[in-house]
Amino acid sequence: MATQSSQWNNNTAFLLAATGSAVGLGNIWGFPYKAAENGGGLFVLLYIFFVITLGFPVFMAEVFIGKKGKSNPVSSVESLAAKSNSSKKWGIVGYAGILASLIIAGYYAVIAGFVIDYGFISAQGVAEGTAKDIWANQQSTFFDMTFWTVLFIVGSCYVVANGIDAGIDKAMRFLLPMLFILVLAMVGYGAYQGDFNAGINYLFSWKADDIETTGQAAAIVQAAIGQAFFSLSIGMGTLMAFGSYMPSSQKVSKASGVVVTADTGVALLAGLAIFPLAFGLGFDPKEDAFGGSALVFETMPEAFAQLGVIGQLVGPLFFFLLAVAAFSSMISILEPSVAFLTQKFSMSRMKATGVILLVCISLSLVSIAGHNVWKDVSVGALDNPFEFMKYFADDFLLLLVGTGMSVFVGWRLQKVIDADTMGISNTTMMNLWVFILKWVSPIFLMTIWTLGNLQVLFEYDLLFEIINLF
Ligand code: TRP
Repeated sequence: MATQSSQWNNNTAFLLAATGSAVGLGNIWGFPYKAAENGGGLFVLLYIFFVITLGFPVFMAEVFIGKKGKSNPVSSVESLAAKSNSSKKWGIVGYAGILASLIIAGYYAVIAGFVIDYGFISAQGVAEGTAKDIWANQQSTFFDMTFWTVLFIVGSCYVVANGIDAGIDKAMRFLLPMLFILVLAMVGYGAYQGDFNAGINYLFSWKADDIETTGQAAAIVQAAIGQAFFSLSIGMGTLMAFGSYMPSSQKVSKASGVVVTADTGVALLAGLAIFPLAFGLGFDPKEDAFGGSALVFETMPEAFAQLGVIGQLVGPLFFFLLAVAAFSSMISILEPSVAFLTQKFSMSRMKATGVILLVCISLSLVSIAGHNVWKDVSVGALDNPFEFMKYFADDFLLLLVGTGMSVFVGWRLQKVIDADTMGISNTTMMNLWVFILKWVSPIFLMTIWTLGNLQVLFEYDLLFEIINLF
């Protein structure tokens, strides 16, 4: 039987670790470019809407499973299933989460590798007007990319192997506020130097013609939910693992609320920093000039270049803090699978991390190749292996696991849920939460999941056809 591995002895440890996990590349690299890819304002509104209506409730469900199950994702689900007379097969939810975590780790490390690389590039100074070429050049170098990626993976595995409690807490206490202040400063700079109105307009105005022009209704909704889940670290066991280390006096609802708010705040601020700068530089989203995942790497160095020598200081600071944010997220991505191996197969932490390290490096090589050697090797309707891994983990698996957890807590754990663990004393609120988990989120998630996959994988936009009927 799996045993409880460790327990945090204060309430801030969970908050710091979970916020450190949630705030990462997803906020600063992912959110802006996904907004740009999916029509701007409409996507942002959908994203905020889903964070509140689905993300927050499912976030609490995942933390709850961990807090009650007190073990790694698979064992937590299995032991709670046993307690509630449910099938042991529910463990599949935990396994699917672990699969998602390994794939995410494989591509996440590649982007983090770029971030470290860019720290050095911006320290040397970037000439104005060259950021685009630099990005094209960096992407084409298989061995350079492998170097930075592997460095990042080895670094995160080193921390995970030694246990994540000690250092993370101390580091996050100091670095998270710094990242926050830097992002605020970028917003200020964007407002001053960039085209703030164009940025705000793009991010926050609902444009009714978005759906018609892009003809991608379901995929946009799916991307917004996928982004909400990804950014909140929902759906692969991270929150279960952290929930299992939570002290018993800490309440799930309150702690979750803090993390969800901080994470969403940082994403919106990152958007507020990047879009005014990008528009000020003359990027045009309609002409696809944002270029998907290139957005941050093309915009920020250009903005630093305009600052001259000061940019050579602020640039590296920005990328350093972004790398730290990515680092704390990566650790949280690795933790569930390492906890699983140590508890399920009684491996030492060191050995378990070694296994995960090898898996991660192998997967990251595939993802790196997707940028260059296998750039044009499409997988299904996805352009290359990198895009495929991203899609398969973020939009396919996370939503599936999210649904599984929602159904599990809503339908099977009703007797286990207690107001005290949750910290919800109001019965109406409690009933609302359970109602969302039972009905709203599964039905909605699975509908969008089906429609979105039909569209992305088979290019069939059923939702668009339905909207057009009216
Ligand atoms: N949320 C992190 C980010 O925004 C990434 C991340 C960490 C994650 N742990 C996760 C994503 C668990 C999904 C599931 O960068």
